Amino acid sequence: MTVSNPSPLTSDADWWRSAVVYQVYVRSFADSNGDGIGDLQGIRERLPYLRELGVDALWLTPFYTSPMVDGGYDVADYRDVDPMFGTLGDFEAMITDAHALGLRIIVDIVPNHTSDRHPWFQAALAAGPGSAERERYLFADGKGEHGEQPPNDWESIFGGPAWTRVPDGQWYLHLFDPAQPDLNWRHPQVRAEFEDVLRFWLDRGVDGFRIDVAHGMIKAEGLPDVGFSSMTTGRRQSELLGKGRLPYFDQDEVHDIYRAWRPILDSYPGGRMAVAEAWAETPQRLARYIGPDELHQAFSFDFLDATWSADSFRKVVDTALAESTIVGAPTTWVLSNHDRQRHVTRYGDGDVGLRRARAAALLMLALPGCAYLYQGEELGLPEVLDLPDELRQDPAFLRTGESRDGCRVPIPWSGDLAPYGFGPAGSELSWLPAPTTWRALSVAAQAGVPGSTLELYRAALRIRHQHPALAGTGGITWQEIGPGLLAFSRHADGSTLTCVVNTGDSAVRVDGHGTPIVASEALTEQDGGHLLPVDSAAWFERR
Ligand code: BGC
Ligand code: MG
Repeated sequence: MTVSNPSPLTSDADWWRSAVVYQVYVRSFADSNGDGIGDLQGIRERLPYLRELGVDALWLTPFYTSPMVDGGYDVADYRDVDPMFGTLGDFEAMITDAHALGLRIIVDIVPNHTSDRHPWFQAALAAGPGSAERERYLFADGKGEHGEQPPNDWESIFGGPAWTRVPDGQWYLHLFDPAQPDLNWRHPQVRAEFEDVLRFWLDRGVDGFRIDVAHGMIKAEGLPDVGFSSMTTGRRQSELLGKGRLPYFDQDEVHDIYRAWRPILDSYPGGRMAVAEAWAETPQRLARYIGPDELHQAFSFDFLDATWSADSFRKVVDTALAESTIVGAPTTWVLSNHDRQRHVTRYGDGDVGLRRARAAALLMLALPGCAYLYQGEELGLPEVLDLPDELRQDPAFLRTGESRDGCRVPIPWSGDLAPYGFGPAGSELSWLPAPTTWRALSVAAQAGVPGSTLELYRAALRIRHQHPALAGTGGITWQEIGPGLLAFSRHADGSTLTCVVNTGDSAVRVDGHGTPIVASEALTEQDGGHLLPVDSAAWFERR
């Protein structure tokens, strides 16, 4: 397929309301210099691919100066590019080209914690207890006669205590890895610094920010105990994420930060936005992050936990749409990201998992709101489950045995030999190895092949952009058409688009919704109706 009309950026300041955003895990997307690591120049070279795929924006995971303990979510310099990924000049060239192709750029911002190599943390270590330098982080004395126990019972999301003791006897808080000390967001210098960092990237043209751990920056006064921990009950505190209250997450005061950020975003032209990675106890509490005086979006993560069933999908959709009604802003949809097992594998892996993942894509892309795609889902990539332990780099792996490396394997682009065109011609390096089965899943192997997952995504995205019923953010109408089936319609200008998903165990006749315009598996015609196979979905159109 050729791109007929590569338009420059639209001037629509509300572009994010119904955008399709493609998440680029920079380290694993495309390697331009043959060191086995994805980089900004690699992204730049692949922009035409993304344009042709039909996405509106890219979200780039952190590419800032970092010791890479947590894949770059440990930032040592918020205003520079890590040499592993290129230079600031590469970033500027990339964003210029992206904008020329009509693609917007969202960058990740990591405000909850810095790297332990950040000059502020180094200064805090050197300056000692009671110093002004320590005030920018959360240092505290320990409990017990000699302060030998952590200040409270908080646990790291990556497992183990959230406190590490330094040689002079004090402890510092890290909700993630010890190499990611939490900042003290009650400190004016911390606030001023991040406001400046926002401006730094806005000045370089970024269209938005994905805010990492957006619910975490403020901790309850007095740092009170949670009251249980893996040590005492075998239950990890992180099980409460999105389900209960924790003294280190979703504190009311965190909203002051976003109320200060919003005017900064609004002071730039062209609709600069921010999306929160936030976890809160209830939809009502999550909704508080969104609104005209705070952030534009919060990820709705419920799809990540939904099983392959019409009922579970319907619940997710209803909950998310209800949330969006609370705030009067469109919702977001996420089937996969760099922190979760890829959905092909979650839905059963192998052929079945792939069929279901393709169907889920049609479900998601027919819904109103903003859809986030994770690189490689358009190729139907599964989770790589058998990476050798010694190659795994996720810091959570050592602490919990759970690793997010399997969804971060470099993208296969072309060719017969691993890493399948990830690097320049002849390069054999990739920081994680791709399985041999990925030869058949590469972009080159799927492009132009009818029925391939890549062509399915391209077709669905094209229709999503052109079809009046899918334009805008209007609601959906559920159709009750039988158990195991999920069906809903969207209408506009006398046309109706109906998405039907079959999660049952037999093919189902679908009548009365008009002409099929895209399907995740081939449909057969039967006496004027259509047979929708198991584990598949299709869009029907009536005008
Ligand atoms: C990111 C993770 C990261 C963590 C700590 C999460 O929200 O998505 O990849 O490990 O924040 O920064
Ligand atoms: Mg490279």
